[in-house]
Amino acid sequence: MNLILMGLPGAGKGTQAEKIKEKHNIPHISTGDMFRLAIKEGTELGKKAKGYLDEGALVPDEVTNGIVEERLSMPDCEKGFLLDGFPRTIPQAEALEEILGKLNKDIDHVIHIDVPEDKLLQRLTGRRICPTCGTTYHVLYNPPKEDGVCDKDGSELSQREDDTEETVKNRLEINIKQTQPLLDFYKEKGVLMPINGDQHIDDVFVEIEQKLK
Ligand code: AP5
Ligand code: MG
Ligand code: ZN
Repeated sequence: MNLILMGLPGAGKGTQAEKIKEKHNIPHISTGDMFRLAIKEGTELGKKAKGYLDEGALVPDEVTNGIVEERLSMPDCEKGFLLDGFPRTIPQAEALEEILGKLNKDIDHVIHIDVPEDKLLQRLTGRRICPTCGTTYHVLYNPPKEDGVCDKDGSELSQREDDTEETVKNRLEINIKQTQPLLDFYKEKGVLMPINGDQHIDDVFVEIEQKLK
């Protein structure tokens, strides 16, 4: 199954991706995660992307489209894939069509996790990440058993650098502008699957699974 996960910053893309990936055994391809890893490792890609992530702005399409094409061409995507956070603009969606055409693939569903905008700031400023295993928590909605410590490996949890209130506002503004045209694009193709993201994490997953069947 070839899937795209769409949703504004904080909608729960990463959270649901973990569950979908496990259930359907397909690779989770998050452009945001790829950029953060490249920044951490200090690669050329990381150097190109860092300034944009720090500001909450979009990385230029040439850079982003290139890494997606490379990733989708890898053999593990033969059995399907789950794109998270790509495409975010119409030019990216068009580039994706071209990439998939070359690879002889198609998108089956675009899962759009819909959450009222006024809930997103709190989701993002309350998010905590395990630097060791990448598990995502939330101080109120998905807290670890022990305050500030990962359930799985005991590491001390940290915050994403772009989860400060100012950067979050920038990310939301930029992404809100891009969203509607993309939703229209995929609705017209008949692959848009709207999901109510304003419910418990487990119930969001139940709704996704029901609609995938
Ligand atoms: P990216 O990493 O994709 O960030 P984002 O789009 O801002 O989305 P997030 O990862 O912040 O949110 P999420 O939807 O995954 O939410 P999560 O599950 O963590 O991109 C980062 C940056 O990279 C961009 O700003 C840009 O610079 C660059 N970039 C990436 N892709 C690009 C592209 N295509 N083009 C150009 N640039 C690109 O959940 C959030 C919190 O809420 C967590 O604490 C979680 O526990 C909690 N939560 C989740 N679900 C629920 C629920 N149902 N109820 C209550 N709490 C919940
Ligand atoms: Mg994410
Ligand atoms: Zn951990």
